[in-house]
Amino acid sequence: MVIHANVLGLIGDTPMVDVSQLSPNPRVRILAKMEDRNPGGSVKDRIAKAMIEDAEADGRLSPGRVIIEPSSGNTGIGLAMIARLKGYPIKIVLPENVSPERRQLLEIWGAEIIPSPGAQGSNGAVALARRLADEHPEWVFLYQYANEANPQAHYDTTGPEIYRDVPDITHFVAGLGTSGTLMGVGTYLKEQNPDIQILAVEPPIGEQVEGLRNLDEGYIPPVYEKWGGPDLLDGKRIVRPRESIEFTRRLAEECAIFAGISAGAAAAGAVRVAERIDEGTIVFIVCDGGWKYLSTGAWTDPIDDVVARAEKIIYF
Ligand SMILES: Cc1ncc(COP(=O)(O)O)c(C=O)c1O
Repeated sequence: MVIHANVLGLIGDTPMVDVSQLSPNPRVRILAKMEDRNPGGSVKDRIAKAMIEDAEADGRLSPGRVIIEPSSGNTGIGLAMIARLKGYPIKIVLPENVSPERRQLLEIWGAEIIPSPGAQGSNGAVALARRLADEHPEWVFLYQYANEANPQAHYDTTGPEIYRDVPDITHFVAGLGTSGTLMGVGTYLKEQNPDIQILAVEPPIGEQVEGLRNLDEGYIPPVYEKWGGPDLLDGKRIVRPRESIEFTRRLAEECAIFAGISAGAAAAGAVRVAERIDEGTIVFIVCDGGWKYLSTGAWTDPIDDVVARAEKIIYF
């Protein structure tokens, strides 16, 4: 057994689980990459580590410097975990209506929480963080939506792991938030085999699925533009919040996988793809586990109540 110097050594190299029982077609395999296995509990540990190490390497981040980041979820938690380990003070701008689990996790890692107006959602947190970063040039603003280390982390690690474990992959399906996962993994996989299809899962305009955004809503992440998003993506699947919750439940009930809601969205997208192809192997990303979403009642309450509640609280 390897003894790691600290938890950073546990980031990445996540397992793959066959969930083909969800597939409507016996000739299509569906595999889940279990990013909840990262020490901070999500895929975002990868980019948190990469963005911090990148900023250290080019001198932007050094002992005593303060990190600031807007995040309603996983990136903030990953950054706060690593900041605690490395001794950096960190401020997370957080919409005031996020789920209690998130706030508590950030508090565990000692982050200072700066509340932003709940009605403005994640975009309001981004705007406030930008303003504070402008007012405090001595703070280090990592800004995952524009940080090259975000897609690069997936190009360097997530993509190679997937191709190593599943060399016969035909389709890659992931939710789109910053687009870092899709751009980094997609670029790597296309370099290995240009026939591999890269597919994004988006919520419909005006509806929320945790961690995900619809690009037609207005904000295009700079990472997406820079990595040639429109040319790289072979398609998009729109998945509604209700379907995401239904598939989050199916993952638990049929596969014994306790995953977050964006994993349900990605699973729904993977099943849609499976319905349309004759044969193949689809890999989708389980971004995080279900723990942070327990207060949504997603697994236990009537689904109408869960969908209604998800409109009021940012669970992502
Ligand atoms: C739970 C969850 N799923 C999916 C995503 C989307 O991943 P990416 O930002 O790499 O596009 C995020 C990130 O915002 C997330 O927190």
